[in-house]
Amino acid sequence: MKRVLTVIAAVVVVLAAFAAIAWAQVGPILKPSLEQPLLFPHSIHVRLASVDCTFCHRGTTQVTPLSAGYPSVEQCMFCHKVVAADRPAIQKLRTAFETNQPINWVRVYRLPDHVHFLHEPHIRAGFDCAQCHGNVADVQQVTQAQIFRMWVCLDCHRTNNARSDCTVCHY
Ligand code: HEC
Ligand code: HEC
Ligand code: HEC
Ligand code: HEC
Ligand code: HEC
Repeated sequence: MKRVLTVIAAVVVVLAAFAAIAWAQVGPILKPSLEQPLLFPHSIHVRLASVDCTFCHRGTTQVTPLSAGYPSVEQCMFCHKVVAADRPAIQKLRTAFETNQPINWVRVYRLPDHVHFLHEPHIRAGFDCAQCHGNVADVQQVTQAQIFRMWVCLDCHRTNNARSDCTVCHY
């Protein structure tokens, strides 16, 4: 019995050490969840309301504009004129709509200005949003799933025989 407990204790210590190492590598550099002007629950919209990612993030399938983009307040009101109209968050949305104010979402992912990224070729090549952004469909709030260091881009480009000369990603 004593030996079994010793083994269990040893396993726990080893697992804790691994967790600490993993945390040291990803923990400090990943941003904590950001304060958004309005808590937007992806899970409800993707799972319950069955809205497609590209309905709201139209830029992901277009050659121009360069950014994935956010939906306009008007697009939200397409449903929320009626749906959950009595909730405080939706009343805030309605006020923004009626006063013609945009909602200034805080960016979660942002590459430095000298890097050129387009969603369209990646979506066309068959990659899923989750491959780069993690499981957005099931979360209440989006947080950064990974940091796009240069090697992350290069690794995938090389394994998929995509172009990887400097000028592809740098202006
Ligand atoms: C296709 C329809 C549709 C669109 C478009 C839509 N929503 Fe929703 N939304 C829903 C449904 C359905 C619910 C769940 C309502 C419920 O709980 O009864 C919901 C719930 C919410 C809630 C949670 C409300 C609460 O406090 O319970 C928020 C906040 C919200 N939506 C914000 C937005 C914003 C911001 C946009 C635009 C970016 C948007 N929605 C676009 C259908 C939609
Ligand atoms: C009804 C509209 C709607 C749908 C559907 C939707 N999103 Fe969003 N998405 C938003 C809004 C609004 C924000 C800004 C608020 C936030 O970051 O939480 C956002 C933020 C994001 C972000 C963070 C962007 C950044 O860097 O600031 C990612 C990544 C994202 N969505 C991916 C997805 C994926 C993947 C799907 C499908 C599984 C999806 N979204 C479906 C409205 C939507
Ligand atoms: C190959 C990796 C990759 C895939 C696949 C991908 N994204 Fe992104 N996404 C990024 C990167 C990198 C950024 C940051 C771009 C920047 O800062 O210029 C980003 C930024 C965003 C943003 C922030 C707002 C903006 O205008 O840039 C949203 C929203 C977003 N992605 C949604 C999606 C959705 C929805 C899908 C699936 C249809 C998707 N992404 C697929 C890598 C990816
Ligand atoms: C999951 C794999 C993957 C990741 C991660 C990825 N890419 Fe790509 N990327 C590809 C593939 C595959 C193509 C080629 C698509 C095609 O053949 O049109 C591509 C194409 C591109 C293109 C268009 C190249 C051209 O021929 O015009 C640019 C620009 C680009 N990627 C930039 C980036 C940047 C910047 C990052 C990191 C922030 C990144 N990619 C991350 C797989 C990836
Ligand atoms: C597939 C896309 C991609 C390609 C190809 C690429 N880079 Fe980058 N590069 C990035 C991204 C994304 C960043 C920003 C993230 C980071 O700093 O790690 C970056 C950052 C940099 C930086 C700034 C580093 C810093 O600390 O600020 C330099 C310098 C650089 N790249 C040089 C190059 C050179 C030289 C080449 C060609 C040999 C090249 N890159 C090819 C994606 C790419």
